[in-house]
Amino acid sequence: MEKMKALGCFLLLSLLFSPFVSTFALTDAQASFIARRQLQSLPENGDLPEDFEHKVEVKHTFENNRLKRAYIALQAWKKAIYSDPQNFTGNWDGPDVCTYNGVFCAPALDDPSMTVVAGIDLNHGDIAGYLPLELGLLSDIALLHINSNRFCGIVPKSFNKLSLMHELDISNNRFVGPFPKSVLSIPDLKYLDIRFNEFEGELPSELFDKKLDALFLNNNRFSSSIPETLGNSTASIILFANNKFSGCIPSSIGKMSDLQEVIFLNNDLSGCLPPELGFLGNVSVMDISGNGFIGILPKSFSELKSLEILDIRNNQLTGLRAIFPITSLLR
Ligand SMILES: *[C@@H]1O[C@H](CO)[C@@H](O)[C@H](O)[C@H]1NC(C)=O
Ligand SMILES: *[C@@H]1O[C@H](CO)[C@@H](O)[C@H](O)[C@H]1NC(C)=O
Ligand SMILES: *[C@@H]1O[C@H](CO)[C@@H](O)[C@H](O)[C@H]1NC(C)=O
Repeated sequence: MEKMKALGCFLLLSLLFSPFVSTFALTDAQASFIARRQLQSLPENGDLPEDFEHKVEVKHTFENNRLKRAYIALQAWKKAIYSDPQNFTGNWDGPDVCTYNGVFCAPALDDPSMTVVAGIDLNHGDIAGYLPLELGLLSDIALLHINSNRFCGIVPKSFNKLSLMHELDISNNRFVGPFPKSVLSIPDLKYLDIRFNEFEGELPSELFDKKLDALFLNNNRFSSSIPETLGNSTASIILFANNKFSGCIPSSIGKMSDLQEVIFLNNDLSGCLPPELGFLGNVSVMDISGNGFIGILPKSFSELKSLEILDIRNNQLTGLRAIFPITSLLR
């Protein structure tokens, strides 16, 4: 019995300290080393020359040219990986890319007789490395999920070639630099998740002209004001939280008829709250806490008929009596 207990304890300890349950955080020096290697490999900041694939020598034969392009992309990616503690990409070898871990194939949208790489999911891989420009050859992917890894550097320009992409999730990595503008050229992007990285600077105003369903920008280092185009957005959920956005909430927000959830938590936003917020009849969650809003809560807030959660704490709002019609809705 005692022996069993001791064994159990040992197992628990070995699990706790096993590399397979721990995340190896990159030091800043390692992250900048990987980012430098990426920059050295990127011509013109990562644009993909048209004739690129013809210059790469490939010794295998492929069922079709798009699988060959995918092979070139995935091999380049494997080379750009510096640490893969779970051996996730261990089987990324040989011409049959559809058997690679995390790689999903499907019939091509424009030619169902052709098999192509349609998605990649490396979520929670704990992989350290960078994104090579060759990823722009994956022109059939609809989904790229690489959240919770240790990818560093920038999102290469060649991402503008991923024209079928619907879902891009690069959250919880170590990406740096300005907002990755190449994603703005992806025509049908619906879901964009770049939260928990180190992106900085301003948001491009074109971001809100995209027909997105969901936009996660939280926990980066974005600063400057939120573009006036915000109201053009079709998103039902937008998270701005934990950045350094300043200025007012654009009054155009009142046009966002699809908006259900909007989180401005912990920024440097200020000024008065635009009365147009009251037009958001479909919003169920609104969090403006931890900012510098002043003045009174607009009367129009009583029009927020779908509201279930409203957080306005840690601002300099006065006259909070106006909130009572709402709190009575929040039973
Ligand atoms: C990683 O996976 C490959 C293929 O599955 C295998 O051949 C290799 O031995 C593995 N490496 C380690 C270090 O486990
Ligand atoms: C986006 O918003 C801006 C400012 O509110 C407006 O001038 C522009 O016409 C809008 N664009 C589209 C495509 O709706
Ligand atoms: C709420 O959403 C519905 C369906 O998308 C839309 O028709 C309606 O205009 C929205 N309401 C408001 C107040 O924006």
